[in-house]
Amino acid sequence: MENFTYYNPTKLIFGKGQVEQLEAEVPKYGRNVLLVYGGGSIKRNGLYDQVVEILNKSNLQLFELAGVEPNPRLSTVHRGVEICKEENIDFILAVGGGSVIDCTKAIAAGAKYEGDAWDIVTKKHIPTEALPFGTVLTIAATGSEMNSGSVITNWETKEKYGWGSPLTFPKFSILDPINTFSVPKDHTVYGIVDMMSHIFEQYFHHTKNTPLQDRFCESTLKTVIEAAPRLIEDLENYELRETILYSGTIALNGQLQMGYRGDWASHNIEHAVSAVYDIPHAGGLAILFPNWMKHNLDVNVSRFVQLAVNVFGVDQTGKDDRTVALEGIDRLREFWSSIGAPSRLKDYNINDENIDLMADKAMVNGEFGNFTKLNKEDVVAILTASL
Ligand code: NZQ
Ligand code: ZN
Repeated sequence: MENFTYYNPTKLIFGKGQVEQLEAEVPKYGRNVLLVYGGGSIKRNGLYDQVVEILNKSNLQLFELAGVEPNPRLSTVHRGVEICKEENIDFILAVGGGSVIDCTKAIAAGAKYEGDAWDIVTKKHIPTEALPFGTVLTIAATGSEMNSGSVITNWETKEKYGWGSPLTFPKFSILDPINTFSVPKDHTVYGIVDMMSHIFEQYFHHTKNTPLQDRFCESTLKTVIEAAPRLIEDLENYELRETILYSGTIALNGQLQMGYRGDWASHNIEHAVSAVYDIPHAGGLAILFPNWMKHNLDVNVSRFVQLAVNVFGVDQTGKDDRTVALEGIDRLREFWSSIGAPSRLKDYNINDENIDLMADKAMVNGEFGNFTKLNKEDVVAILTASL
C-alpha cells in the first residue's frame, strides 16, 4: 500500500423515513435555504411536497432553483450563484441525483467567489470557502452524496470537467431507498453501470499488497451483479433498492480507494463524449469501459485475470492468462447488455465524425490515466473500437 489519509466528513443518514431528519439538520446552518432540484421527478413522486412540508416546520426562508439538467450546465450553476448572492443564502439543500448534487457543489463554491464559477471547475481558482449544503439523494449512481467531486458541463464550449474540494463534501446526505422507487428502468441501469465503473476505475492499479481493498471491490461488484437483474424486474423492491443504494455510495466515497490511486481514464474519455453528445454518463461508460479494458489488457494481465476469476467466476483450467482475462471482459459486456445497457456508440447515433474532437477534449490536460497513460492515439483506438 501507499501512505494515505482518509477524510470524509459527510454524515450519512440512511433508511426508511429518514427524510424527517431534515427538520433537525437544516436549521443548524441558518435561515435562508436554497432548494435545488432537477426536471420534476421529485414533484411527480411526492418527495418535493414532503421536503417542503418538513422544512416549513422550522422558521426557514425557502428559495428554489429548479430544472437542473442531467449533465448539469454552467448556466444553471450561474443562476444558483446569483440567487445565493442576492438572497444571502446560508444553506443549500440538493434534492435529486448526481447532477443536482454536482450543480449544488459548484453553486456552493461559486457563491463564495467573486469571479466566474467556471474558474473553479477548470481549476483556475481553488475555492477557499463554500456555502454548506446537504442532500436528499433520489437515484443510486454517482456517489456524489458522499464525496467532494462535481462534474459540470459548459454547453457553449462543449466542455465537461470534474473538480472537487475538501470544502464540497455534503454536510449530510439522506438516503431512503423508497425515494429511488420511481427511478425508471433505464436510469436504474445507468446507475448500476456507473457504480460498477467506479469500482473498476479503482480496481485497476499496480500497487502491491492491497488484499483487503481488492476484496472490498470484488464483493461490492458481486453484490451489485447479484442484485441488479432482480431489481430491474422489480423496481419497487425495498431490499434490492437498499442494496444498490448503499453500494453506489460505497463505490465512490473513498472507502475503496485507500492506499492506492485509481485509474479514472474511462471517466475522462466518457466526459469528453458526453460533452459533445450529451448522452447519459453511464450509457457512455457501458460502451467505453470494456474497450478500455481490452486496450490495456497487456499492461498488467494479472489484474484482469483476478477480476475474471474472483468476480465473474471464470474457470481458469487449461487456459492462459489472456484467455481468462478476455473471458472476464466478455462476461462483463454480456452482463451489462443483459440488463439493458448500451454497448456501442451507434446506440446513441454517434459515428466516427467527431472522434478526433472527442479525443482532443479528453487530451486537454495531456496524457492521462494511472494504470497506464493514454495518449491521443490510444483514445482514438478506444473510441473507434466503441463505434
Ligand atoms: O431531473 P429529474 O426530473 O430529477 O430526473 C432525473 C434525471 O432525468 C432522473 N431521476 C433522478 N431521481 C429520480 C429520477 N426519476 C425518477 N425518480 C427518481 N427518484 O434520473 C435522471 C438522471 O439523473 P442524474 O442526476 O443526471 O443522474 P446521476 O445521478 O447518474 O448523475 C449523473 C451526473 O453525475 C456526474 C455525471 O457525469 C453526470 O453529469 N458524475 C458525478 C460524479 C461525482 N460527483 O462523484 C462521478 C460520476 O462518475 C459522474 O461523472
Ligand atoms: Zn461515473
